[in-house]
Amino acid sequence: MNFKSLINVGLIATTLLGVGCTSSANNRGYSKDAEINTKVEMLLSKMTLEEKVGQMNQYNGFYDATGPAPSDGDAKNKYEHLRNGWVGSMLNVRGAKEVRAMQKMAVEESRLGIPMIFGLDVIHGHKTLAPISLGESASWDLEAIKKSAQVAATEAAAEGINWTFAPMVDISRDARWGRVMEGAGEDTYLGSKIGVARIQGFQGDDLSANNTIAACAKHFAGYGFAEAGRDYNTVDVGTSTLYNVIFPPFQAALDADVKTVMNSFNILNGVPATGNKWLQRDLLKGKWGFNGFVISDWGSCMEMMAHGFAADLKEAAELAANAGSDMDMESYAYVKHLSTLVKEGKVNEADIDDAVRRILTVKYELGLFDDPYKYCDEQREQELIYHEDHKAAVLDMALKSVVLLKNDKQVLPLDKSQKKIAVIGALANDKTSPLGSWRVASDDNTAVSVLEGLKNHNIKYTYAKGADVSVGDVGFQIPVTINNTDKSEFAEAIALARKSEVVVMVLGEHGYQSGEGRSRTNIGLPGVQQELLEEVYKVNQNIVLVLMNGRPLALPWADAHIPAILETWQLGTESGNAIAKTLFGDNNPSGKLPMTFPRNVAQCPIYYNHYNTGRPTGGNGVFWSHYIDESNDPLYPFGFGLSYTSFEYSNLKAKVDGDVVKVSITVKNTGKVAGQEVAQLYIHDKAASVARPIKELKGFEKFELAPNDSKLVEFELTSKELGFYNNEGEFVVEAGDFDIMVGTDSQNVSITSVTL
Ligand code: NOJ
Repeated sequence: MNFKSLINVGLIATTLLGVGCTSSANNRGYSKDAEINTKVEMLLSKMTLEEKVGQMNQYNGFYDATGPAPSDGDAKNKYEHLRNGWVGSMLNVRGAKEVRAMQKMAVEESRLGIPMIFGLDVIHGHKTLAPISLGESASWDLEAIKKSAQVAATEAAAEGINWTFAPMVDISRDARWGRVMEGAGEDTYLGSKIGVARIQGFQGDDLSANNTIAACAKHFAGYGFAEAGRDYNTVDVGTSTLYNVIFPPFQAALDADVKTVMNSFNILNGVPATGNKWLQRDLLKGKWGFNGFVISDWGSCMEMMAHGFAADLKEAAELAANAGSDMDMESYAYVKHLSTLVKEGKVNEADIDDAVRRILTVKYELGLFDDPYKYCDEQREQELIYHEDHKAAVLDMALKSVVLLKNDKQVLPLDKSQKKIAVIGALANDKTSPLGSWRVASDDNTAVSVLEGLKNHNIKYTYAKGADVSVGDVGFQIPVTINNTDKSEFAEAIALARKSEVVVMVLGEHGYQSGEGRSRTNIGLPGVQQELLEEVYKVNQNIVLVLMNGRPLALPWADAHIPAILETWQLGTESGNAIAKTLFGDNNPSGKLPMTFPRNVAQCPIYYNHYNTGRPTGGNGVFWSHYIDESNDPLYPFGFGLSYTSFEYSNLKAKVDGDVVKVSITVKNTGKVAGQEVAQLYIHDKAASVARPIKELKGFEKFELAPNDSKLVEFELTSKELGFYNNEGEFVVEAGDFDIMVGTDSQNVSITSVTL
């Protein structure tokens, strides 16, 4: 069949260039507010070239801002630069008092008194922490995720922060990559929705309010596709993946009015993102009309030398500025070279003006020109940090993020009256690991541990550690050393298990085993924990495995032997309370995996929306697309998650109705307790001008059902969901047959079809 000929035929089969992407107009109006535009222009007209370049310069926090001024070294330079008006922004300065002190220097000591914008990685909370972003994403609950971002923004803003480097909207399919903990998982559709919820939560309806902060969609682009899951590694992807998988969450972020975008460390098809004019100037700011500003990633301008793209720092500054990277984070490239480059005619002053307009506009929108200290109220800070309402919100988020992976013979929920409950595992008594990685402002030892959670819920248990997960000091900047040898406390744990009715084993990764710079090649249980699990199993098979981890793990032995497995990620401040509630049935788990769990690390990258290949099956034969020593199947598929109740799907219907496809299905709670379910809609465009994945998520709904209650779940597919980007980067919708699938996860679906 000639599919090209089907393009432009039929009701929906029109080539819809631009559908699904942000306006193609070049939106150089900057702010929607004419008054702000006027003020920006007036200020710009007063600025010297050096002051303009200063706005494009961001420094890391460098000194105890409230202490004596440093008299030499880099910190002294930074003070001087601040007074000269050569610093537009700082990151990693926080606390109402500290931010005020820095802001005062910029506002009261520099010639034009332009306030700085203070940025920080507020990723999954500020002081009060929600589950890691990947964990939150397992909730598929957009309102709860938005609320969680609101809480984070409220606390961060109370500590003087006006800008977060979040959300990370990088799609990633590789569990080896440590930064999967910071994103929304492997799926573009889900990732886009979650990215938008986070942006809405951070930015709110009024950016100038003192509890909202500017968001930043990062990392543009392709960072999640680092080869072999090794952080900062080369990225080489084709047009289809770029347009259909990597770009859409950024486009959704722009539609949600995200104020800033961060570029990425990696080269993308040979060109570093920071020096990539096509990405930043032509596409992002040009075709997509982004009117906020682009911040480089930390030192990414300078790293273009190591990439072999820039000969020296001066050339790096030239390439980055010309490519549309508006603010330099910690490369010192712009502040050193940009004015000279303009004077030499290598960078246009018009492009500098463009960058400065963007930066000043966001500052105006934040209200920093009205009151540069509006985020610096120490009393407010005291009242809001660790506020009880915030704890309630992150507990709610944690309860919704737990995923039940296995529950043979309904081992869970446990009975509170059970007498002999053993708890084993160092992570059960850990108040830091459950906070996860990427939590720059939070305090160690502030999570409710599992043991504390059990106590809070009046559960009687006996505890034995069994083995440490790590040894020595651990921290954001200190690599984790795993305990690979010490089994001296195994015996005590085994003896306890032998005399217990049920054993709750809390095992997994240390909180700092995921995050930036934390790629792994072995994604099993770290250290001696697998051995501990197997030894305990020898004396008591009635085990509930509570997993804590920042990425999908490959645990085929546990899946084959352990009757109940609960995925708790790193649930944040209220971790132990959420786990206790879930183990004992006060919370019915409703999370669904946002990333595929492999059987074996060698399957990575593994994802549900893969292509079919020309040889998808082969019976017992040799020549088909498979491994000879492992199944192609995942351990747990994308979208998977059980409940303490059961749901039945029936009566799937799909029909073309005008410009849309209407889909409906009935879902019934067939179990004994109320529960929440996420009905998931997938499509497969069976034959198209460009091969399409075997399945793509295009809708979902989360709802609660009482026992025996049913619900008619309805979806509408428009051209936005039915189309795709072709290899010219154009959005097209093609006629033909589509499979329509709805179910409880990406594998367990009912199927019907429609013809467009
Ligand atoms: C490097 C990370 O890649 C980025 O995501 C983060 O926002 C910056 N460092 C600032 O901490």
